[in-house]
Amino acid sequence: MTDAQTAPDGAPGFAPRVFSGIQPSGGLTLGNYLGALKRFVAAQESGVETLYCLVDLHAITVWQDPARLRHATREMAAGFIASGIDPARSILFNQSQVGAHAELAWVLNCVARMGWLGRMTQFKDKAGKNRENASVGLFAYPCLMAADVMVYHTTHVPVGEDQKQHLELAREIAIKFNHDYEVDFFPVVEPVIEGAATRVMSLRDGTKKMSKSDPSDMSRINLTDDADTISLKIRKARTDPEPLPGDLAGLAERPEARNLVNIYAALADITPEAVVADHAGQGFGTFKPALAELAVSVLAPINDEINRLMADVAEIDRILGDGAQRADMIARPIMERTYDIVGMVRAR
Ligand code: TYM
Repeated sequence: MTDAQTAPDGAPGFAPRVFSGIQPSGGLTLGNYLGALKRFVAAQESGVETLYCLVDLHAITVWQDPARLRHATREMAAGFIASGIDPARSILFNQSQVGAHAELAWVLNCVARMGWLGRMTQFKDKAGKNRENASVGLFAYPCLMAADVMVYHTTHVPVGEDQKQHLELAREIAIKFNHDYEVDFFPVVEPVIEGAATRVMSLRDGTKKMSKSDPSDMSRINLTDDADTISLKIRKARTDPEPLPGDLAGLAERPEARNLVNIYAALADITPEAVVADHAGQGFGTFKPALAELAVSVLAPINDEINRLMADVAEIDRILGDGAQRADMIARPIMERTYDIVGMVRAR
């Protein structure tokens, strides 16, 4: 394995490196924060090398108004920094500024099979009944996602539950590339899906994922919501009339109640078991205000910081540009070696 370094854990032979991404197709939600961002910060704090990417090329697989996309990208960068991502320690950048993502995605388009992509549930959900009218980019989306992680020889990818299938595909693509070209070049990534909030559900329907694209704003908490809005959304969240049980088994058939318990646990950094033990017997008239108070105490400072950072957009652009340069220094040699492996002539 010529390109390998020695690694204590993760993909054998590769030094541990964390990469993850979020689409700037809207604002950050509590689902993004608990399922992804908070865990990105934990990875950064663990001392491992971390790269975090605002995947603007992924965002345009469905129509985005250009001015809104630009604004959302900057606001999301502010959201990352406000949540604890330190651009000096993590590499924070937007995808379109590092050309190697799109370059490797093309090569991987030629490795992945139509059938593999056709099975992706996210494509089926997003394309809906009108598949013929979906963009080619939406179909090929998982190849770009595989390129995002592979172009850095990433070993670990923290994500929420909904990205599991895409990362399994990225593993298949890496294995097929290594096999077809008889190399041991790309690591097979490890999805990291951990904690109480790998699937935060809608506040209006406990069987649906909380999402930035849900038409109802009451279904989600946005990182840009102020304290009053956060409290209102939690007060109005759908629940049932029963009090909280003493153990998690008692929540099995109560998706809305289970969701609020999970959110509480993830915000407070405790287990869902501890939440039900502490609040057993309480009705939602008592539990919701406690949850609202906790949510506001965690999220209001982040909201304030986003507003402060957004007052200096030039500084955000500078941070993203600097991150992109550092990302490119890792990606470029890996891309060049990939071209070499597949047989492209390169100027020396
Ligand atoms: P995206 O932008 O939909 O979501 C970003 C991250 O937030 C997590 N997430 C959630 N976690 C818990 N509960 C929720 N309700 C919830 N909603 C979103 C997602 O699981 C994800 O971790 N395809 C990816 C972006 C991407 C990417 C990558 C991720 C592109 N390239 C490479 C990792 C590595 C996406 O659309 O995420």
